[in-house]
Amino acid sequence: MPLKAYALSEKPELEPDFERLAAAGWPRFLRQRDELGCGTFWPSLFTTWADYQTALYDDAGRVAAVAHTVPITWDGTPGGLPESIAGILERATEDRRAARTPNALAALAALVDPDWREQGLSRRLLDHLRFLAETRGHRFLVAPVRPTLKARYPLAPMERYVTWTTDDGEPFDPWMRVHARLGAEVVRVVPRTLVIAGTVARWEEWTEMTFPESGPYVVPGALQPVVIDRARDEGRYEDPNVWMLHSLKGARL
Ligand SMILES: CC(C)(COP(=O)(O)OP(=O)(O)OC[C@H]1O[C@@H](n2cnc3c(N)ncnc32)[C@H](O)[C@@H]1OP(=O)(O)O)[C@@H](O)C(=O)NCCC(=O)NCCS
Repeated sequence: MPLKAYALSEKPELEPDFERLAAAGWPRFLRQRDELGCGTFWPSLFTTWADYQTALYDDAGRVAAVAHTVPITWDGTPGGLPESIAGILERATEDRRAARTPNALAALAALVDPDWREQGLSRRLLDHLRFLAETRGHRFLVAPVRPTLKARYPLAPMERYVTWTTDDGEPFDPWMRVHARLGAEVVRVVPRTLVIAGTVARWEEWTEMTFPESGPYVVPGALQPVVIDRARDEGRYEDPNVWMLHSLKGARL
């Protein structure tokens, strides 16, 4: 099926599709207020950064996949990559304010419509992001990758999980594998890209579970346990990611 890529700035009417795919793609708890401040910046993706939000769109006008990106400056060191999604957005905002020329495109999220999954579309989406980064003169595409299969292994430390490989020596995680096949390398684990906290009642609502005692709980869609503290009436979850780096043509660290 031929697909075309559009920036949200070219087709603002596609904005509801970004919301639709986010609702279908993320567990409900992950779409709540991020303690690190992602929500302060997120709306700017649809205004200031509309040129960097991509949708893949078929002949019938259906959106099959979307990706959120922003341009940032990066000094090329592992420690120079932001510590959170809010940190990435803040970096992009500050760079713009200071009129600094970005050298990296940061991919914040990639979402494939459930009807289009398992057809190899994620590779096409990433290919397009690499193309975008190159044509806009960036040296790197960097992504805080949320490994899709990690939710099935919530007790494994992220540092260990990202080293797991298949018999063929490829990353064990399918989403990391898509990046790796395009030449991306692991830079480092990011322990908390989003921090979601809320009352126990809220967590019970978001997860459709009950949490009778304090302690860590395995929750569908969570990459590590959600920690419930009944005395403080709080549940807390930190979403870990792994920074992966695509060096583009002519790029060198
Ligand atoms: C992750 C996501 C983008 C993958 O998109 P996709 O187009 O369905 O993936 P592909 O068809 O290109 O498959 C990529 C690899 O993942 C594997 N895969 C896809 N779905 C899978 C599943 N449910 N379980 C296990 N492996 C799966 C495929 O087999 C393939 O690996 P292979 O080439 O070694 O066989 C999509 O599932 C999605 O939008 N998920 C929700 C949001 C998300 O998690 N985004 C990524 C974090 S930013």
